[in-house]
Amino acid sequence: MKGVILAGGFGTRLAPFTNATCKHLAPVYSKDKGAVPIIHYPINTLKKSGIEEILIITSRDHCGHMVQTLGDGKDLNVNLTYKIQEMDRSPTGIAQALKLSEVFVCQENFAVILGDNFFEDSFEKEIKEFEDYWSLANKAAIFIKGVTDPERFGVAEIDVQGVVSNIVEKPKVPKTNWAVTGLYFYTPAVFEILPSLKPSNRGELEITDVNNYYVKSKNLLSYKLKGFWHDMGTVNSMIETQNYINS
Ligand code: DAU
Repeated sequence: MKGVILAGGFGTRLAPFTNATCKHLAPVYSKDKGAVPIIHYPINTLKKSGIEEILIITSRDHCGHMVQTLGDGKDLNVNLTYKIQEMDRSPTGIAQALKLSEVFVCQENFAVILGDNFFEDSFEKEIKEFEDYWSLANKAAIFIKGVTDPERFGVAEIDVQGVVSNIVEKPKVPKTNWAVTGLYFYTPAVFEILPSLKPSNRGELEITDVNNYYVKSKNLLSYKLKGFWHDMGTVNSMIETQNYINS
């Protein structure tokens, strides 16, 4: 399985730091590891799950810093490739960034991880299951986590059989506490869905619309995360993640 890290976007919630570079290079201070950039964490999640062939989507403004920081990935025991997401072309969005990975992915199954997400867990077992079984039926997989602030995320609604029946992006009044985390498994068939997406109210192609496509065709698997999960896209969530890492 290949890996794709989405690290484009604007990162305005971490300004003024992000006036100079992207949030994915902001330091996370840890007693054990020192000051490491946010993006080391999703790289390590893929690596400890057995994925070493990784594409990083980065913006034109920050790709220089990204390459300078990570190089070819040898220091982290992975093999990195880069691709630019032009942020002044509309629409942008996570699903638009995903489109850019088509040539890299080629005919393989792949895991997509958001560049600001921290996962305690690793996913060897789920990857093996997906490779051996679910991918043959062209399914997709998401990972959900119970949170206290679901309105900040894609929120999964779950039916009586425990199956995800709908995902709503940042609902004002969430129906559940199940946040959809920034880790997704797809087969190359996902690239057939992407051209039909329409920009959302915020002018972005949404990953939630991609996953709802799989919900409607009853092809979405969902796993409940056991370990700690946080995004690091806001100052508060960054501090909470750092506190967790140092606890
Ligand atoms: O963290 C999980 C959440 O991430 C999910 O629950 C939501 O469904 C999903 O939409 C996303 O929400 P956010 O509002 O937190 O996404 P954000 O705009 O912060 O982008 C997350 C990452 O995706 C970020 O590290 C950069 C990357 N990205 C984002 C955009 C908008 C791109 O690579 N390109 C983009 O155009």
